[in-house]
Amino acid sequence: MTRLSVIGTGYLGTTHAACMASLGHEVAAFDVDAERIKALSSGNLPFYEPGLAELLRAGLETGKLKFVTDLSEAMSGSNIHFLCVGTPQADKTGKSDLSQIEQAISSMVHFLKPGDTIVGKSTVPVGTAKTIREFLEINFQSEVKLVWNPEFLREGLAVKDTLHPDRIVLGVKNKEDSKVIEQVYQATIKEGTPVIVTDFATAELVKSAANAFLATKISFINAFSDLCDSVGADITTLADAIGYDSRIGRKFLNAGIGFGGGCLPKDIRSLKSRADELGLSAQFKFLDEVDEINQTRRTKVLQLAIEQLGNISNKQIAILGASFKPNSDDIRDSPALTIATELHKLGAKVKVHDPVAIPAVNRYFPELGTSLTIEEAFEDADLILHLTEWTEYQAIDPIHLRNLVKSPLIIDGRNVLEPASWVSAGWKIIYLGKPSS
Ligand code: UDX
Repeated sequence: MTRLSVIGTGYLGTTHAACMASLGHEVAAFDVDAERIKALSSGNLPFYEPGLAELLRAGLETGKLKFVTDLSEAMSGSNIHFLCVGTPQADKTGKSDLSQIEQAISSMVHFLKPGDTIVGKSTVPVGTAKTIREFLEINFQSEVKLVWNPEFLREGLAVKDTLHPDRIVLGVKNKEDSKVIEQVYQATIKEGTPVIVTDFATAELVKSAANAFLATKISFINAFSDLCDSVGADITTLADAIGYDSRIGRKFLNAGIGFGGGCLPKDIRSLKSRADELGLSAQFKFLDEVDEINQTRRTKVLQLAIEQLGNISNKQIAILGASFKPNSDDIRDSPALTIATELHKLGAKVKVHDPVAIPAVNRYFPELGTSLTIEEAFEDADLILHLTEWTEYQAIDPIHLRNLVKSPLIIDGRNVLEPASWVSAGWKIIYLGKPSS
């Protein structure tokens, strides 16, 4: 087994560190955020991710996993350093803010040793790895190697995606540089996971292309969802039918209020901005459309609410779901919270419910009302908005809740609630891209 360091303990770094420890490696994870390191060292996960807290605690108990604020301590016993810092959106142009990468590399320089390998996992604009490699060559000649190993994990499925990924992509300057990392991922590779060893630029672009493709699929189906609304067709049946064609596939064709989170929105903007820099604006203009279609989904729900209620002011609206997707408490760029905030600005009395994200909502959106139970959210409501498809919402008993509301009206922003039980309980249910019931 190998000793590894992980630089950055955000979503990616924490998951990677705990998963690598579960494979038997000895992992020291570093962050500049002392509070986060303290929490992680005590076995407290600063975010919700199914299955991860168990791996974290197991790693701490066996001593395979430790969290430190001293970079030299993290790096000294190890030759492999995973770079897992954040690359948020810098500004309105969509450019990535690479300051955390720059900061990490310039701190790591003091503790790198000949024979070390840096493994970049952060999502970066194409060309970043080449720049880092050139910097390392100036400082260490060829003594310190770089491998670019993009991460494809989905929140809510992060442990599974890290331990059993669809593929492992390794961007290198020289083919043999990948060997040391293949050793680290040996258990996963033995399961038959494909390994793609390629150049830096291709490795970086695999990640950009995958996210751009997924985002495009969602906006494609959402554009058709509007077309279905115009002519009275049904987007779910349409998606099922085209999805049977294996060239198309059914995944990521769920129409609704669109994509959010810390990755897809920022990654398509970063790709567009990089394409602009490279003189390829025309070829990548479609990403602006993908982004715009996606933003319009949020406005569409507002318009529907206004159509149904007339004047929104002082209307009581229950919002089911705050996180950008189920099985996560991540509220970054959450479509549900954009909608909730806009309704609040229009004077509505909003009550947000979410199985796990309420602490985050209270912290970052203190102006919004929140409810700890579904019943409390429904009480006296003029309208219910179902915006994040947690399974508990699909298990709601519409008969029981019918008696709590002022008006039995629900907009299903994720098109997953079964109409039969709601309609027979006296509700009107409105979907996006399929006829209301
Ligand atoms: C995404 C990529 O899937 C992952 O590979 C990458 O590493 C990080 O970005 P994640 O942000 O966790 O992962 O969420 P994902 O499951 O991709 O969903 C993104 C958004 O799209 C969510 O808001 C989800 O609700 C929405 N979505 C997804 C749809 O609106 N329709 C769909 O059919 C699928």
